[in-house]
Amino acid sequence: MAPVTSLASTVDQRIADALSAALPEAGSADPLLRRSDRADFQANGMLALAKKLKGNPRELAAKVVEALSTGDLIKEVEVSGPGFLNITVTDRAITETLAARAADDRLGVPRAVDPGTTVIDYAQPNVAKEMHVGHLRSAVIGAAMVEILEFTGENVIRRHHIGDWGTQFGMLIQYLTEHPHELDHSGAEEVSGEEAMSNLGRLYKAARAIFDSDEEFKARARDRVVALQAGDAETLAQWQRFVDESKIYFHSVFDKLDMEIRDEDVVGESGYNDMLEETCRILEETGVAVRSAGALCVFFDDVKGPDGNPTPLIVKKSNGGYGYAATDLSAIRDRVGNLKADTLLYVVDARQSLHFKMVFETARRAGWLNEDVKAVQLAFGTVLGKDGKPFKTREGETVRLVDLLDEAVERAAAVVREKPGDLTEEEIAERGVQVGIGAVKYADLSTSAARDYKFDLDQMVSLNGDTSVYIQYAYARTRSIFGKAGDRTPVARPELELAPAERALGLHLDQFGEVLNDAASAYEPHKLTAYLYQLASLFTTFYDKCPVIKPAPPQETAENRLFLCDLTARTLHQGMTLLGIRTPERL
Ligand code: ARG
Repeated sequence: MAPVTSLASTVDQRIADALSAALPEAGSADPLLRRSDRADFQANGMLALAKKLKGNPRELAAKVVEALSTGDLIKEVEVSGPGFLNITVTDRAITETLAARAADDRLGVPRAVDPGTTVIDYAQPNVAKEMHVGHLRSAVIGAAMVEILEFTGENVIRRHHIGDWGTQFGMLIQYLTEHPHELDHSGAEEVSGEEAMSNLGRLYKAARAIFDSDEEFKARARDRVVALQAGDAETLAQWQRFVDESKIYFHSVFDKLDMEIRDEDVVGESGYNDMLEETCRILEETGVAVRSAGALCVFFDDVKGPDGNPTPLIVKKSNGGYGYAATDLSAIRDRVGNLKADTLLYVVDARQSLHFKMVFETARRAGWLNEDVKAVQLAFGTVLGKDGKPFKTREGETVRLVDLLDEAVERAAAVVREKPGDLTEEEIAERGVQVGIGAVKYADLSTSAARDYKFDLDQMVSLNGDTSVYIQYAYARTRSIFGKAGDRTPVARPELELAPAERALGLHLDQFGEVLNDAASAYEPHKLTAYLYQLASLFTTFYDKCPVIKPAPPQETAENRLFLCDLTARTLHQGMTLLGIRTPERL
């Protein structure tokens, strides 16, 4: 089992070698190789080089061609246009490279030799609150980044920074203390996620109502906040009941999302409570933060409010309370100091970008972040309704995530049912979940995260177009081919000439590792999504043009085509798994 060098990098190296042999004065120049429609690859590095050497690019290119040997790897190379090289590789090289990939259970994708440690902060809902589409995006994009980075060999630590702390708990805890039976489940059977959330919602409303109308209750609620922050045991016990009830709800939503969230990775805001005071002390002692109007603040030259006055990051309020920023700064200290991370990745809504910009800059000034430890916000855009406005119900309320997911599953089941096939009702229901949840995840992962996107279920479960169900169908088709293959088995046949559709599919299959690497290093899962969609399309064309079973091609051609089907299936499956999307064997 060994990593496989892609044809693109082998060819790139060959050209780089030819370049320095033909033009020693060029030093080490980059051939700038890319895939091309004209030939398999095109190198246009000769243009920049000619400029540098003050030569004629076509003449330089011709010299490189002379120094390039053809045969085993390169079938043909020609100079085109202003001095590009068009390169065609041999069919044998394609099939042999793919055979090496097929022999490796990682499809030839190398594992980092010297991996780092990345903490990914994602899937961070808030206690006692309903989850919304923003939480969906963080969970889906974050989970994909976890898998992609782990696959490349990175050490990944997951952190679910749930909102489980702050002044709002004073009101809730006080209410529960005065109405202790409101969250009692003793004796009752297990509480469902739905029930847990509705209990919390009811409590929240009731507490809010008293809080707004009863001054004395308000005062008691304020005292509760102080007691909570001081670690009063009874107060903490009531607080824990809220957290536990919320976790029942969160887990039910994550289950629905077919996503594993481990309890040990849930370290919410409360987890950093003991560090807040010290964080503020360090910031003040080092002069990073200063007192301003009683609050402890950090100022930035380039952060100003609409009135032109600087807007500070407040780490400690004038009433002595700590907020979101102090918690995030403490979390950075924990993740760098204790978890030994060298990268901190935050999968959080773009509307929090200013917060993170200020928090990261503060941490840099304090020395917690530096050249060896970086922090990045993978900022995602807003989910919009079909009308292009932020997603709301007709009544103007936030759409409940669970309702959306249920609807997606329902629509997907209808699509699966319509397709001619022999699935039982039970199978349709199961596929409905795999297709529906896959569709929601795919929609989230298939555009660049920073962009807003429209939540359009009709489009998401459409069989044609850039959707997960299109890819799932392509995968299921590969499986059904094997069902019909009889005693023919997949065997790579490097001696065979390849049809254009086979070459196109093969060259694309060979790029899997490079795409993963790009997606991992740029934190862009949509690169993998785009790759898989194209793979499914190329497979569909191949399947149209190159019969595998009927009309039966010669034995060896059939074997080689089965081999391509098999590698396509494994690549689709691996890629979709990294994105958190199921690939049912039959659809
Ligand atoms: N709970 C927050 C929200 O719902 C997201 C937390 C993001 N992570 C962080 N470290 N601040 O908006």
